[in-house]
Amino acid sequence: MSKIDLSTRDSFGSKFGIIAAAAGSAVGLGNIWKFPYVAGENGGGAFLLIYLFFVLLIGVPVMMSEFAIGRKGQKNAYGSFKVVAPGKKWHLIGFMGVIAAFFILAFYSAVAGWTLEYINQSVMHRFAGQSTEQLENTFGSFIAHPYRPIIWQLIFMLLTAGIVIAGVKKGIEKYTKLLMPMLLLLIIVLCIRSLTLPGGNEGLSFLFKPNFDKVTAKTVLFALGQAFFSLSLGMGALITYSSYFGKKENLAITAVEVSMADTLIAVLAGVVIFPAVFAFGIEPSMGPKLVFITLPKIFQQIPGGDFFGAIFFILLAVAALTSTISLMEVVVAFFSEELKITRKKATFIATLSISLLGVLASMSFGALSGFSILGKNIFDTLDYTASNILLPLGGFFIVIFVGWFASDNLIKNELTNEGTLKSKYFPYFIFIVRFIAPIAILAIFIYSIFVGGLG
Ligand code: PHE
Repeated sequence: MSKIDLSTRDSFGSKFGIIAAAAGSAVGLGNIWKFPYVAGENGGGAFLLIYLFFVLLIGVPVMMSEFAIGRKGQKNAYGSFKVVAPGKKWHLIGFMGVIAAFFILAFYSAVAGWTLEYINQSVMHRFAGQSTEQLENTFGSFIAHPYRPIIWQLIFMLLTAGIVIAGVKKGIEKYTKLLMPMLLLLIIVLCIRSLTLPGGNEGLSFLFKPNFDKVTAKTVLFALGQAFFSLSLGMGALITYSSYFGKKENLAITAVEVSMADTLIAVLAGVVIFPAVFAFGIEPSMGPKLVFITLPKIFQQIPGGDFFGAIFFILLAVAALTSTISLMEVVVAFFSEELKITRKKATFIATLSISLLGVLASMSFGALSGFSILGKNIFDTLDYTASNILLPLGGFFIVIFVGWFASDNLIKNELTNEGTLKSKYFPYFIFIVRFIAPIAILAIFIYSIFVGGLG
């Protein structure tokens, strides 16, 4: 009989390490280039309220469910389901999560690579004197370049791999504990810069002034979809991380803290971006255009612009890095535990295979721009499949499993640390994961598939 030595499994060493890693996964490109714009366009403060409501009502219980599965299972996303539901097919949800992580990391690392190019451009004063049109061309020809974006992407993958390969405590925890406070500091510096620009008030009202006229059914679904992606739910990143949590960790409180940190950074990103955008009378835009064209235009015009531009792109790179670490860990934990290979080998295989797909995603803007699957290029196909199909489906099955199929005792014991914590709120939790969360998730899923992308 082989002896299983539990003491060899790596784990987080501190409460702060847990928060830094999990919040690091959550805080990413989604917070900085998507949330502010979506909020501004959809009723500002009104959207913020709806978003907050979803984060607390659905995000937190789904996160608690993932935490409970992972900490009970003590394995990767796939293996944890095998432990909590032996002999059943639920581990397929974990497997789907691994695929989602694979897909997301492939396209996400392409964008993460762009942030490195733009740090470089800011430091080299390259934005100076370019008109908006020129900035658009600069960006367009950079992402279509045959090798520049790919080199940056590979550098980003290697950075991620270098941290993941060192393990949970000596890699992930050590670096996220350093990177997350740095991220907070950078964003605060940028907030101060933005808020002290004359004429930025309109930007604050774009972001915060509640305008309920703009709230439609679509807005509500948008808010839920955004909450899911932003909190890293539905694909096993948090199952994997929580498998390294200590048994004394209060899972409910951790879920609330991580969700609040994620929301705070999203709001602060809006405070950085919109006062500056409005101070220069520029129309706000979304996604890549906002970050790689509109903002460089603004950095040109403000005192110390190159410096603040570099700070902004460093912020973006840091936010992306703590997310790519969690995505890679999902795949590495799966490979190493299920194929019974070392972390080193697993990281090597994961990096190589994801990079291969990632390079194809990158080339969607250049050599492969003519290649499409159902009208979408490779980059968009990966994004769409992961964000609009795999994540909602994963989230749906996770709550269905916890609400209806896992024994109440298993989940309750995990959430109350074997009865040592209060269980007063447990009935509410169960009610949400049984009824509210699955219905809400199904609504976004059906809406995004049949009515139109949620962006
Ligand atoms: N939450 C990250 C963001 O907002 C994206 C992400 C999704 C990271 C899923 C890990 C897992 O950018």
